[in-house]
Amino acid sequence: MNAAQNLKPWNGLPLLIFGTSGISKEVKNVIDEINAENPADVYEVIGFVSECKKDVGSIISERKVVCCDEDFEDYIKEYVQLGVVIPLGTPAIKKKIVEKIATYPNLVYPNIISPTAKIMDRHTVEMGVGNIICSGCILTTEIKMGSFNLININSTIGHNAIIGNYGVINPLASVSGGVEIADEVLLGAGCAVKQGISVGKKSIVGLGAIIVKDIEEDSVMICKAAERKK
Ligand SMILES: CC(C)(COP(=O)(O)OP(=O)(O)OC[C@H]1O[C@@H](n2cnc3c(N)ncnc32)[C@H](O)[C@@H]1OP(=O)(O)O)[C@@H](O)C(=O)NCCC(=O)NCCS
Repeated sequence: MNAAQNLKPWNGLPLLIFGTSGISKEVKNVIDEINAENPADVYEVIGFVSECKKDVGSIISERKVVCCDEDFEDYIKEYVQLGVVIPLGTPAIKKKIVEKIATYPNLVYPNIISPTAKIMDRHTVEMGVGNIICSGCILTTEIKMGSFNLININSTIGHNAIIGNYGVINPLASVSGGVEIADEVLLGAGCAVKQGISVGKKSIVGLGAIIVKDIEEDSVMICKAAERKK
């Protein structure tokens, strides 16, 4: 018998994506981009994890919703090693999921980085696990980032920025040099944070806001929205 026959093929790290909404589909696109850029697939997307049992079995982005939060523990038992991605847009929900699944020893949390994102100085940009860096983002140099952050399309993170855990940085946000962002912060799309500013834990910076002073914990910051002039 030929020992090389009938062996299990490796199709990349088996991976589950949490959530079924737009951002989960967009992160599936990033994973597809990564696979397309490599000569062999890096990840094998097994499917999505829904918060609702009724979604299980449905198809989104060409993959099945394979389980829900409730039966997740049972579902993952058959895997020796399984990657998990948590793209959700609400920091508190991401944190809750991580706290629930962190004890499962067969799970790993890859940093999903779009091939079109640019990390200008890889040796000085540190990051934990489970981060997602979407298309067109630029991270410059000497950046420290924790875990489970979502850096959405075309955002920029300047030199010496420090970013905590579970952050959500929506598209086109501009984080200047030396900014410190605590855990569970949401930066709205198109906002800009001036250099050296600290953004307190669990704060929300509204879409389009311009931040020029330190923000206390639990703040919601907005600028004046556009008004009809004529
Ligand atoms: C700031 C934010 C969190 C407030 O959400 P909310 O508490 O649900 O606020 P509401 O939508 O009920 O709006 C409350 C008031 O604030 C105003 N407002 C809301 N967001 C605003 C913003 N970003 N800038 C200026 N004004 C804003 C609304 O016009 C409304 O004003 P009114 O009371 O005079 O009618 C939210 O609007 C926001 O900007 N989230 C980020 C969105 C984002 O990044 N989207 C991209 C997803 S990829």
